[in-house]
Amino acid sequence: MLYNRSNAPGAGADPRVTRARELLRSTYGVGAQTVARAPGRLELFGAHTDYNEGYVASIAIRQAAVAAVSSRADGMVRAVSDQESGPANFSVDELDAGADGQWWDYLAGVIKLLREHGCQIGGADVALVSDVPVGSGVSSSAAVELAYALALAAAAEFEIGAEELALLCQRAENEYVGMRCGILDQFSSTFGQAGRAMWLDCRTLERRAVPITADRAQFVVCDTRKPRELVGSAYNERRGQCEEAARLLGVGALRDLDTATLERRASELNGTLLRRARHVVSENERVHEGVSLLEAGEMVGVGDVINRTHESLRDDYEVSCPELEAMRAAALDAPGCYGARLVGAGFGGCVMALVDASGVEEFIAQVGARYEAATGLVPRIFATQACDGAGVL
Ligand code: GLA
Repeated sequence: MLYNRSNAPGAGADPRVTRARELLRSTYGVGAQTVARAPGRLELFGAHTDYNEGYVASIAIRQAAVAAVSSRADGMVRAVSDQESGPANFSVDELDAGADGQWWDYLAGVIKLLREHGCQIGGADVALVSDVPVGSGVSSSAAVELAYALALAAAAEFEIGAEELALLCQRAENEYVGMRCGILDQFSSTFGQAGRAMWLDCRTLERRAVPITADRAQFVVCDTRKPRELVGSAYNERRGQCEEAARLLGVGALRDLDTATLERRASELNGTLLRRARHVVSENERVHEGVSLLEAGEMVGVGDVINRTHESLRDDYEVSCPELEAMRAAALDAPGCYGARLVGAGFGGCVMALVDASGVEEFIAQVGARYEAATGLVPRIFATQACDGAGVL
């Protein structure tokens, strides 16, 4: 089921857990005290709505990060990852200096926030194993944050609720790493359920499990392998533009507007801010439409909503790029595709396609070959499904 087979998830007992334990032992000579697993996510509906206090619907996916932890008492943190070169070495007393653009920033941010919440972390040896594609829009960052946070909190016997831990991980990313993300990723990774999507109101944090009556269709992740550039700054810029539009229109957040009101007041915004607001306001409306269609098993309708989301992201929110367009064109051309859209922040990363279950293998082969011929990049394409959220093992 993979165009690029090197990342195939294993069957049976979770091989990532075995690998994380082994990596900890072979690198630091210690056994794991705790191990936690947290999945990546696919946003189905609700793109860039979360930080506008709007609505989202998403699934947790099979691809996940696994962290194995052994506590230390000397204040040192040593960490190794199977995806990154070079181990981390830092002291828990140095965390006020802030992020330095390294892969372990997520670990450092989580430790800092946990300690501020009263969790006694006096150092740790950590091994991370993950098969969530990095920088691809399926939230490898929330997966690692949650895996670290769960394993470290459990090792310190620190009691914290799932919702509070997810919010803490978001703060680590906002305040320590400097990416002003919303809550979509951390909540999806925490509260995902097998066979269900999560609907979330990002203002009230009310959520609901939506059964996916889709045995006829499957979600396929098509990773462009186009490295995302400047994604953090462009993302924060989009967020700033949304906040500015809301301020000019005198509402708490763009969530408070509907399309009719926005169009009536269009002259109060400049062209760029109007396009940004149009995307967010219409996307919130598409979340409701998409969730009802998903629940009813109306895959043609779901595909249509997914396509309209992509067009809005491309034209009004302007977060697509040539590689995402090439991938989406290949997906829409392949037989059995109901719809396709970019997922996550944009500017590279993945397209998500909803594909008729009978032809997934053929879809993957055809889209992979067409995309490679068009761009010269070797994509990674795999089918996934709604899985259970994060937990300590
Ligand atoms: C990234 C962010 C999320 C969300 C999506 C876009 O994944 O981390 O909070 O804003 O982009 O929907």
